[in-house]
Amino acid sequence: MLPYDAVIFDLDGTLTDSEPGIRACACYALEKMGLPIPPDETLQKFLGPPLADSYMRYCGMTEEQAAFATELYRERYIPIGWKENRVYPRIRALLHVLKKRGAYLAVATGKPQHTSVDILRYFQLLPYFDAVAGPAPEDMHADKGALIRRVLPQGKRAVMVGDTVGDIKGAQDAGIDSIAALYGYGENGEVMAQGPTLSADTPDALCALLCPDMPAPKGAFISLEGVDGCGKSTQAAALTGLLRDFGYTPRRTREPGGCPIAEQIRSILLAREDGGMCPETEALLFAAARAQHLKDVILPAVKRGEIVLCDRFVDSSVAYQGQARGLEDDWIKAINRPAIQGGMPDATLYFRMAPEKALSRRVSATAPDRIEQAGTSFQAKTMAGFERLCREEPRRFIPVNADQPIGQVTQEAFAALLRRLAEMEVL
Ligand code: TYD
Repeated sequence: MLPYDAVIFDLDGTLTDSEPGIRACACYALEKMGLPIPPDETLQKFLGPPLADSYMRYCGMTEEQAAFATELYRERYIPIGWKENRVYPRIRALLHVLKKRGAYLAVATGKPQHTSVDILRYFQLLPYFDAVAGPAPEDMHADKGALIRRVLPQGKRAVMVGDTVGDIKGAQDAGIDSIAALYGYGENGEVMAQGPTLSADTPDALCALLCPDMPAPKGAFISLEGVDGCGKSTQAAALTGLLRDFGYTPRRTREPGGCPIAEQIRSILLAREDGGMCPETEALLFAAARAQHLKDVILPAVKRGEIVLCDRFVDSSVAYQGQARGLEDDWIKAINRPAIQGGMPDATLYFRMAPEKALSRRVSATAPDRIEQAGTSFQAKTMAGFERLCREEPRRFIPVNADQPIGQVTQEAFAALLRRLAEMEVL
């Protein structure tokens, strides 16, 4: 049984870390007004309390100036600032488990209602909540106790989780228990002096309080494939950043390489002067590097609950050494079997792009390595290999149209990745 069957969360500093966005927007307003930027310790204090109060308290503004600064702040916050936000790790899993076990979940925040809903929707957290209460824009001083009462259900064991004195005080006013989220922005001494029922130093500690038998984090192994120059590496970096913002724990790695021994093998494989390497040696070296990388890096990270994003895996061997170099498919699979031992990717993002286009982009960016030097017809065969794999394993392969602006490719790939992670209950 859950210790509380109704949990009301504060947003900033409890569910999400909005520091980068708030800081940047607070500075933007000050710069526009030609005022000095206060030191970091002062800017830190902008996180949590109503904005206008902070401008008056820390920048010596009058009420009128503070209202103007707030308008300027919104000028940046509305288009960009609200997305410069990060869900704390494990929070998504916590909400998922609480909801699954029948808890009532709500948000009571000092952030305007519509912005809070937008943030929760963007981070795909909104479906977990039965209610969201935030002040209307014209009433930014709404009292936390009143906001909590607005979403408080009848007849449940309710608790408020928040990181500031206002959250704890609000819970006391509403007559419910409180948990201090000490990992947020509140000054911990002040927060504890307010007498919360319980406290959590980290999001993990919060999970243990709200759900004592919370399952261990579940990881996933995702590979990224495509012909040379399809933009995979740029996408791997963007997807890693987005996964982190959404509260997952990503781990980016690549093949061949990813650990010291495999990186040494990589330098042999890709050395440009080494044109005489026979296809069999090449295939065996890729498999050798893979065995080490999987054991040293990929499997331990998945076991820890991380989401591994691996730039290329065994499908590259099937496409490059098999389809393109003409080695037997069965032999490629056979030599890779001991390297993989059941550790196949849970999903493979396949960045689809015509080889002529991909190669021209790649070659203009840097000098081609030994494999890239093989040219367009080689890459066309490689693509045919990926396309065949894609048809053979439609469950694992997620094709993404890579021939669009970078941001759009990222969006398409990320949406597909989130869907797959949700199906796997990886949170
Ligand atoms: P890299 O510079 O990492 O290229 P990319 O960013 O396109 O992945 O070089 C890796 C090269 O090795 C690339 O041309 C594909 C090739 N390769 C194979 O031929 N077989 C394999 O099994 C793997 C993993 C890579």
